[in-house]
Amino acid sequence: MTTWTASALLAEIAQIGRNDDGSYSRLCLQHDEVALREWFVAKATELGLTIVTDMNANIWAWWGQPGPHAVLTGSHLDSVPGGGAYDGPLGVICALVAVAQMKDAGVEPSKPFAVVVMADEEGARFGMPCLGSRLASGKLSKDGAHKLVARDGQPLPEAWRQAGLDPDLIGPDDAVLHASCFIELHVEQGRGLADLGRPVAIATAVRPHGRWRAEFTGQGNHAGTTLIPDRHDPVLPVAETILAARQAAEQAGCVTTVGRINVEPGGTNVIASAATMWLDCRAEEAQTVTMVVEGIQKTAHEAADKHGCHVVWTRESWTDRTAFDDGLRHRMLQVLGEDTPQLSTGAGHDAATLAATMPTGMLFVRNPTGASHCPAESASDEDCEAGAQALRAVVEELVK
Ligand code: GLV
Ligand code: MN
Ligand code: MN
Repeated sequence: MTTWTASALLAEIAQIGRNDDGSYSRLCLQHDEVALREWFVAKATELGLTIVTDMNANIWAWWGQPGPHAVLTGSHLDSVPGGGAYDGPLGVICALVAVAQMKDAGVEPSKPFAVVVMADEEGARFGMPCLGSRLASGKLSKDGAHKLVARDGQPLPEAWRQAGLDPDLIGPDDAVLHASCFIELHVEQGRGLADLGRPVAIATAVRPHGRWRAEFTGQGNHAGTTLIPDRHDPVLPVAETILAARQAAEQAGCVTTVGRINVEPGGTNVIASAATMWLDCRAEEAQTVTMVVEGIQKTAHEAADKHGCHVVWTRESWTDRTAFDDGLRHRMLQVLGEDTPQLSTGAGHDAATLAATMPTGMLFVRNPTGASHCPAESASDEDCEAGAQALRAVVEELVK
């Protein structure tokens, strides 16, 4: 077997789901993400791993027999619309490289071990971040999943059936419930490592975050003939709410984002009848998120009233503050060196979702731009290999 490298594997998938501006749109169970899944299955099979696609649309590549107390590593292959090349695939690829290199070195795991690809980590298709890991760990029920509708309008059960999966089998997965640990490698989504001049860090915690949907309704009408006092334009309270969200974040020292807005029916010469905006809010402490979002909601209701409109808020997802497992973190420090940098992050991850179910930990790889969820996201070939080596060393220790 020739030794695999992270950069060579990244090059193999570089054209899949690539947009003209160099960004990637790989939405869960849609054409390009399915192509990545097929690529993953082929590579894992080449390594002699046994593939299981579970009822939650996660893919498992087992080294030896599946079983309880397994050591798990992996990440996701889906992206946000217009995302970067590394967020997700780097963790999957480094896991494959780690397996290839352990096999080359004649390592024999003495525990069940699997590389896992989790479904819709970004929630970009079905609106629920970390969908696969939430389902597998029982954090999201089958009924909850059945109610999800993709942004393209396809109900989740139909998308499942189209992918050859039975939506009635969605549910907690013993392989997750009885696993011994999960390690996820990820490109860093900030400049922490670049500023420290180091290639790899160990993650300490994920800050609390949530997503809310605000549906404003008004009255559609003619753009030329409807006098200003007669309008019930839902776009105006949306605009006021967005500005309030920014101001609230500045005051509270947290972050709020409105990155998605839908205006209906969407005509240049038509006053909108409805407008939906999605709010993402993250802070150091959960109560800050709650306080900030409540303030924004109050402004939204007042603005809707002022413009003769109506607004309904729905919380789409919530992830509490997650501290990664201390025991695993210390084992990783022993393997990688006590001076390995340790960083917390404002980004969500499957490792955070699974942390309530099993000990989890993360490794970050330096991202010189610090940018993520955009084409500027980057990592050098050398740093990707350093990440793969670090993951291999950690996994080799854990499967002993
Ligand atoms: C995913 O990367 C998220 O932080 O939303
Ligand atoms: Mn990710
Ligand atoms: Mn992401």
